[in-house]
Amino acid sequence: MPALRGTLRAITIGAAALAAASALVASGAGGVDAEPAAAEPAGPAVRLHEDPEAVLAATTATIRGFLAGDAEAARAGLARIAEGTAHLDPVVDAELGGDLLAHALALQTASARARESAGDGRMDDAYRQFQWVQQACFGCHTIARRDGLLR
Ligand code: HEC
Repeated sequence: MPALRGTLRAITIGAAALAAASALVASGAGGVDAEPAAAEPAGPAVRLHEDPEAVLAATTATIRGFLAGDAEAARAGLARIAEGTAHLDPVVDAELGGDLLAHALALQTASARARESAGDGRMDDAYRQFQWVQQACFGCHTIARRDGLLR
């Protein structure tokens, strides 16, 4: 969803600009005896979730939907998971690395397939796809921790 990515970029760029501005202030705007500003930890070029807690809540809601056999609730939860997780572009977001991009794509694909199956009443298949969604959460977070994007 380009709009979401735009928002996420804006947040990231805004944060970077703020950090640069405060580093400038802290350094006394070029004063001679100023301490060198501490290097900012390298954060992700794109934030993966605008609201991580909402993605977690959507995941719980999806599980509840499946357990209740409520296809519409499951579909709604799956859609919120997909909306809350950045849709990355392998070209634009190449700096994030292939492993992370693959997991982002896997999440979007599995969420879409799960919604399609649930929409057709194939809840077993939808649940299998939902397990791939959760596999993408786990896999990407493992990579993100390895790469210092997540503590
Ligand atoms: C493609 C990578 C990726 C995928 C897929 C992903 N996440 Fe994340 N997640 C991150 C990163 C990176 C952060 C750190 C902050 C940020 O970038 O938004 C994060 C942060 C979070 C946080 C807040 C920090 C924490 O550990 O409590 C939660 C909660 C979360 N994600 C839940 C989920 C859930 C649930 C899913 C699957 C439905 C998921 N994420 C899928 C990369 C991912």
